[in-house]
Amino acid sequence: MEQKILLSQLASDTLKGLSANPKFLLSKYFYDDEGSLIFQDIMHMPEYYLTDCESKIFSEQTSKLCLALHHKTDFFNLVELGSGDGLKTKILLKHLLEKDIKFQYTPVDISAIANQQLMESLKAELPALQVEAKTGDYFTKLKSLNGHASIPKTILFLGSNIGNFSEEETIEFIGQLAAYSNVGDKVLLGFDLKKSPKIIMDAYNDPHGHTRRFNLNHLIRLNRELDADFDIRKFEHHTTYNPQTGDVKSFLISNIEQIVRLGALEKSFRLKKWEAIFMERSRKYDLQTVEKLAANSGFKVAQNFTDGRNYFMDSLWQKIT
Ligand code: AVJ
Repeated sequence: MEQKILLSQLASDTLKGLSANPKFLLSKYFYDDEGSLIFQDIMHMPEYYLTDCESKIFSEQTSKLCLALHHKTDFFNLVELGSGDGLKTKILLKHLLEKDIKFQYTPVDISAIANQQLMESLKAELPALQVEAKTGDYFTKLKSLNGHASIPKTILFLGSNIGNFSEEETIEFIGQLAAYSNVGDKVLLGFDLKKSPKIIMDAYNDPHGHTRRFNLNHLIRLNRELDADFDIRKFEHHTTYNPQTGDVKSFLISNIEQIVRLGALEKSFRLKKWEAIFMERSRKYDLQTVEKLAANSGFKVAQNFTDGRNYFMDSLWQKIT
């Protein structure tokens, strides 16, 4: 008789990644409670310029940015995908409220806890804000919003989160944004820009060991949630940067021939000595690539906002077809 096992998304993605050649795990699973804390440590490293740059763009160009992203109608919807702690976005929200611009803020996050904390802090800090948080998959939520075609929207996807996608995934993602947007709707995307490889490597490779901990925590999560038996001492962390593709890639490399068991799936995987598991991509962009992405999916670049050193760019697009 056929036996049906219902796998969680984590279980089936992990099974797929560890069965593949070359092996991979998905970076979206970095962010359990511990992983989110480690990412905070990464953001606080002086070498991790991304957060500082985007904060600076938001705080030094607040009114220009708000003017560009709002809609000159009675009311608009400011949607944020992957809102997290919302720290940078609050700079914009505060300004929009001060200018008496009428809008609703709609943060969308896969983490219910993140959403709950964000809602509480917004209530305390910006009590006048009209806000409706949504927990779940970005596109299911976007689709439901597009029912209200008469309300224009601006979608935020900040912090170089887009850098986690491969080229195909990026095109697919922007295609989805386009599909769920109406003519006139806007998106604001945060891109990390190509720069001296030395600066990039200092941010990712790994002056305080946080990136290594961030990666190993994924294995610890699998031990806990899928009853796996990863021994983190048997893995080395390694980071590369390819200045042509712009890809920073993160790997965990087995320093010994070993067999790893996923108890919850009753499966084992062999890792050869020095075999690598691809853990994460953090893609760096140039201006031309960003412009091409916009043009190929029915958007025009309305305005680019960069920091003084040109390390980071928030690019505002508008749907034209
Ligand atoms: C949260 C995806 C923007 O790629 O820079 C930081 C995650 N990984 N250091 C990034 C990350 C290693 C980060 N993003």
